[in-house]
Amino acid sequence: MKKRILFLACLFPALTATAQDAEIKSSVKNVEAKVDSVLSLMTLEEKVGQMVQYSGTWDLTGPATGDQNQYRKEQLKKGLVGSMLNVLSVDATREAQKLVMENSRIKIPLMFGYDVIHGYKTMFPVPLGETASWDLEAMEETARISALEAAADGVNWTFAPMIDISRDARWGRIMEGAGEDPFLTSRVAEAKVRGYQGDDLSNPASIAATAKHFAGYGFAEAGRDYNTVHVGENELHNTILPPFKAAANAGVATFMNSFNDLDGTPATGHRILQREILKGNWDWDGFIVSDWASIAEMRDHGFAEDLTHAAEIAVKAGSDMDMEGGAYETGLVELVEEGKVDEELINEAVRRILRVKFKLGLFENPYRYSDPQAMARIDRAAHRAVARDVAKKSIVLLKNEKNLLPLSSSVRNIAVIGPLADDKNTPIGNWRAQGEANSAVSILEGVKNAVGKDVKVTYAKGADLGVGERSFLKPLKINTTDRSGFKAAVDAAKKADLVILALGEDAFQSGEGRSQVNIGLAGVQKDLMKEVFAANKNVVLVLQNGRPLEISWASENIPAILVAWQLGTESGNAIADVLFGKYNPSGKLPVSFPRAVGQEPLYYNQKMTGRPTNPTDVTYSAYTDEEKTALYPFGYGLSYTTFKFGDLKLSSNEMTQQGSIEVTVPVTNTGNKAGKEVVQLYLRDLVASTTRPVIELKGFELVELQPGETKEVTFEITNELLEFYNADKKWTSEPGEFQVMVGGNSVDLKKNSFELN
Ligand code: BGC
Repeated sequence: MKKRILFLACLFPALTATAQDAEIKSSVKNVEAKVDSVLSLMTLEEKVGQMVQYSGTWDLTGPATGDQNQYRKEQLKKGLVGSMLNVLSVDATREAQKLVMENSRIKIPLMFGYDVIHGYKTMFPVPLGETASWDLEAMEETARISALEAAADGVNWTFAPMIDISRDARWGRIMEGAGEDPFLTSRVAEAKVRGYQGDDLSNPASIAATAKHFAGYGFAEAGRDYNTVHVGENELHNTILPPFKAAANAGVATFMNSFNDLDGTPATGHRILQREILKGNWDWDGFIVSDWASIAEMRDHGFAEDLTHAAEIAVKAGSDMDMEGGAYETGLVELVEEGKVDEELINEAVRRILRVKFKLGLFENPYRYSDPQAMARIDRAAHRAVARDVAKKSIVLLKNEKNLLPLSSSVRNIAVIGPLADDKNTPIGNWRAQGEANSAVSILEGVKNAVGKDVKVTYAKGADLGVGERSFLKPLKINTTDRSGFKAAVDAAKKADLVILALGEDAFQSGEGRSQVNIGLAGVQKDLMKEVFAANKNVVLVLQNGRPLEISWASENIPAILVAWQLGTESGNAIADVLFGKYNPSGKLPVSFPRAVGQEPLYYNQKMTGRPTNPTDVTYSAYTDEEKTALYPFGYGLSYTTFKFGDLKLSSNEMTQQGSIEVTVPVTNTGNKAGKEVVQLYLRDLVASTTRPVIELKGFELVELQPGETKEVTFEITNELLEFYNADKKWTSEPGEFQVMVGGNSVDLKKNSFELN
């Protein structure tokens, strides 16, 4: 030990000046050496302190534990806190950082975390909506901008991307992820990590990202948030973990574990997940923060007796930092002193935390993110332009009978109707960071901005959503029966050439804790839709939603339907771009839309079952009162033009595990407008040592085509794309026949096959 300190003393004279007043410089290049040098100077209390994260406000998330401000300030001064969340503004973060840097013995800068989920001030589409663009460059760009704005406000760490595979529309947090598919979510994860973190974490415009929630959170039973998750190893490895592996490989700085019990073990206390898989097999060197109080909540799970026991379980399982749970702070020092926890586990956790702090450049300059001029330098107008661009790309056209869209220039009288028609708050979505309430461009505003003076636009709200008080933590009650606005809406519809009907969900209907057993149009919206449609058949339904909605009646009756999610700051303008044909819609669903809520969880990449089809008999896997297929499947979305896919050409019908083959498909724009198609590659492993999905996305490419133009799209099929977690618990491919499918959604596909030898 002595030897090591001596060695460090030679390397870092500054560190050895006086330990009391250690000014930790990072002039030496090797991060690992720096980490060790700092660690060697720390007391056990200081090490445990690094593993503690406090919230700066108590009204943002999670239950409060009383006002402990004074005590917490003292802890900061003693250097017994590693990070804070929800401390916002350059002034506030500087203030907190100063408490540490000017008072503590060891002077280790704080990290400041925050939920920057789909924008900081400029709001972009909610993640589920943005994923519908399938545009990875756009997704990277919005993360880059979010990082820039957050960093300018003192934040250096976002708790995003959320990459929980979500297949259940009842689960409110489905809005926060990239949908139901592991391949697509993996690509989004990489794009988001690149966007937030850039090439170099120490660039003050980059912030650390978080892959969350590790793992299984999206599989909450019955779609009820925080509920138990029952998934087996096969599902865990093949469906849930791939996006996390992709994020780890992309160099994500941190992971967050999850609230849920995973097959009998709370994820926060899950040693196999955290130590064996993430830190072991994947060799990932960042740190894991718990979810809000999830260490303490292991008591509620009936998994820990008290806070100290919870701390013991969590640290042994590999949770490095305790977010607002008080468990590490309460129990860890004692656990080490009593010999129940090996100090090496603490050292390992602290090493990981310090590593990220070094990479962020915080040791070099703890006030790196405290530039009071940074926000003023930001070009918000440019960010708004990006917000509009990505918003229009995220809109999905579900139906367009008789080419009602784009709106013809002969339309002279438009009625904009519905509870969300002039709603400037809903498009901001949930998890809105510092996005201002009521600051989005509404649909009505967007339409008015788009039309000339000779087009008459009338507005009628028709009905309220009936959600009561809207806020992040308050439950919404959707119980309105008020139809008093119907008459004005019907009158407006009668007088108009065409109706734009804006229905859907309030911003706070989806998000954390927002599970619903009904996923139709809440309140009296469906009745309003029926009455308006009876008055005028030319209805374009624009849905704003954070989850797939049950819209069977609309799908049967309304001629044109757009899914506009919650699109952020520029929502109304982006919707108008699509309505008036300034942008030809190219979005595709990242999640299946059901025919009925009883189908949930619903997803395209299902297993076959032993009784897939036999419609002459009742004893096969189906429903007796509804089709089992999606109303609108994964990958689905129309355009104002049409695309035709030619036959698939394979470079060979055989491949080896070391080799690869190419699949080529000609795609032709057969309509009369330029447009963009998302060409999707799917594979199926016909027989394997475990059952395999009937179809799995394995590639996609966005192709722009002029009318009449044909382009050949080529995908390379490598062994990596064929691998899965097999019966021997190995990630490998197995020889045999594979089907290759390519198309513009997960149902209408051209097929071919090859043999893996
Ligand atoms: C959520 C996390 C979030 C954390 C901090 C929790 O309730 O589950 O996703 O990052 O709060 O706000």
